[in-house]
Amino acid sequence: MDKSEKNPEQIQASDMHTMEQSAARMTRIQAKSLFDYNIFLIGFMGTGKSTVAAGLKDKLAMDQVETDAEIVRRQGMSIPDIFAEYGEVYFRNLESSILIELQKRKRTIVSCGGGIIVRKENTEHMKKNSRIVLLTAKPETVYERVRDDHSRPILNNNMNVAYISSLMEKRQPLYEAAADIIVATDGKNVSRICEEIISKLIAFDKSKTQ
Ligand code: S3P
Repeated sequence: MDKSEKNPEQIQASDMHTMEQSAARMTRIQAKSLFDYNIFLIGFMGTGKSTVAAGLKDKLAMDQVETDAEIVRRQGMSIPDIFAEYGEVYFRNLESSILIELQKRKRTIVSCGGGIIVRKENTEHMKKNSRIVLLTAKPETVYERVRDDHSRPILNNNMNVAYISSLMEKRQPLYEAAADIIVATDGKNVSRICEEIISKLIAFDKSKTQ
């Protein structure tokens, strides 16, 4: 065989790569006309909001903001330090003012701190020019995902399934009241979760226009 010729397997592999690249490009192009609004990801701690937001940003070529990261950046302090020094109310005030500012943005994926729904007015701010996606996970799954992370003051002295379960139950009606669509994350990888979000959003938008 001529050296410049590729064997069939090589051709298949490079073709597959090109096909995958153009499929990804197509998704991004189509997505531009799909979602002309902001997408808020809400849900309990450890439901994967930040990771899923990064996955969606990639697939949809949208901007991405994380309320917790924005608070840390602006305050120049970690979240546990903000809670310890100024208290939870101060932290919640920062969350609310970031949400008000975000109303000016378009086509942005916002992953929110898990407690964003504790203030009713936050849900009202989020509902403007946006869709709200609720990510869920079982208390046991949350525990496995967050148990070794000490950056969440709400859980730091309560790192157990019973506490997670009771706080989740208390917050659940608020999460559900805010959500346009709900996606369970247990046992799924990021790509599958993103695809589920995209198809549920398309269905939700369709149902709105009918
Ligand atoms: C909180 C969730 C955290 C963070 C803060 C309070 C909560 O965000 O905003 O520690 O009250 O549920 P994550 O949901 O990203 O962990």
